[in-house]
Amino acid sequence: MDRIRLVGGNPLNGDIVISGAKNAALPLMIASLLTDEPLVLTNVPRLADVKQLERILENHGVDIAVHGRRRGESDGVGQRMTFHAADIVDTTAPYDLVSKMRASFWVIGPLLARCHEARVSLPGGCAIGTRPVDLFLFGLKELGAEIDIDEGYVVARAPKGGLIGSRIVFPKVSVGATHTLLMAATLAKGTTVIENAAQEPEITNVAECLVAMGAKISGIGTRTLTIEGVEKLHGASVEVIPDRIETGTFAMAAAMTGGDVLLRGARAEHLQSALDILARTGVDLTTEADGIRVKRNGNGIQPVDIETHPFPGFPTDLQAQFMALMTMSQGTSHVRETIFENRYMHVAELARFGADIAVDGQVATIQGKSQLKGAQVMATDLRASVSLVIAGLAAKGETIVNRIYHLDRGFERLEDKLSRCGAEIERLAG
Ligand code: UD1
Repeated sequence: MDRIRLVGGNPLNGDIVISGAKNAALPLMIASLLTDEPLVLTNVPRLADVKQLERILENHGVDIAVHGRRRGESDGVGQRMTFHAADIVDTTAPYDLVSKMRASFWVIGPLLARCHEARVSLPGGCAIGTRPVDLFLFGLKELGAEIDIDEGYVVARAPKGGLIGSRIVFPKVSVGATHTLLMAATLAKGTTVIENAAQEPEITNVAECLVAMGAKISGIGTRTLTIEGVEKLHGASVEVIPDRIETGTFAMAAAMTGGDVLLRGARAEHLQSALDILARTGVDLTTEADGIRVKRNGNGIQPVDIETHPFPGFPTDLQAQFMALMTMSQGTSHVRETIFENRYMHVAELARFGADIAVDGQVATIQGKSQLKGAQVMATDLRASVSLVIAGLAAKGETIVNRIYHLDRGFERLEDKLSRCGAEIERLAG
């Protein structure tokens, strides 16, 4: 298995082009199942999770094409891809495909809406808590679906004539359940109201894609989505939004190493809460016409307490990276993880750099240190892995990050982007 070797200590200076958001690209690809016409997506990141979802969609009968560069486009630009689900030949999403990535479970929404049946394996993905699917099943039942669990599969059937619009009040905010029910409701009969919907920018990206495909949705970007079902959706062309988690990760990396980095294409409004927190740690942030500039020149890092929350709160997907930053702060800080119950796997690995972190239930207490030391560490889940990379960039000496396949699931050309800014980082083939 590949490893990453890095030698810490260099400040980051230069430009980093932010890739398309993984968490938007995946549901947008899944939305292609809703229509027999082609859906064109631009700015699709080159990631292992995207490849994995391609396999799943192909199994349902979706034709996928990757298009070449267009005149004027730089080589770093995201992929332009067409997804064409002219005929859904199979409504089963099998275990060996779904178990590798949790988001693939979301195909259940469009399959049920368009084909009136779906058989989808219960999901796998990052080992961050139990991550059940009760909210998805609750929502689909509200739309009239009959649900059985059979040998590890969710078997869902729509009523004769298709799903029926209804009022769904989610007891808890779920990104995946919101995407899934939003997609399912576009083809349901009558009006669906989703209350306590997730408001993440990726939901808005998908909702706007669905509207471009002919769906009738109001309340986009708010806690209440209202969907008036239509008979058919059509093709469209939609751009994947920039990855706010990648943006926040590089911002924290620059905060740790010092330097001056322009995060090209980043949109401040997609991660304002994290930027506000970063500013309080002493980082200099400016929004420019083509991105966000992050600077830290010599001044120390101030300790700041955070709690993770659904959007617009501080994202759980930046929690590990922020904790890495806090290990270098001039004092004591606290992190409260409220979204996932088991998202502290990076704590033991950060300790290998000499970090001082104690976890008590949901709360981690971090005593800042002036200098981390390079170490051999193991990548666990996706975001935890990248927290080890940025800790290594700031640590003294050599760091080896083992088992990096998680990084390839969610970060495009990570070593390349960092080394162009002066980091000493390379991939060692396994
Ligand atoms: C998505 C993101 C992931 C991010 C997470 C929270 C993608 C591909 N993944 O994951 O990067 O960390 O949002 O921002 O977009 N829950 C239930 N029952 C359910 C569904 C969820 O109890 O049926 C719980 C989960 O266990 C978790 C919480 O709800 O505690 C939020 O999870 P959810 O928003 O659904 O996360 P994902 O959509 O899986």
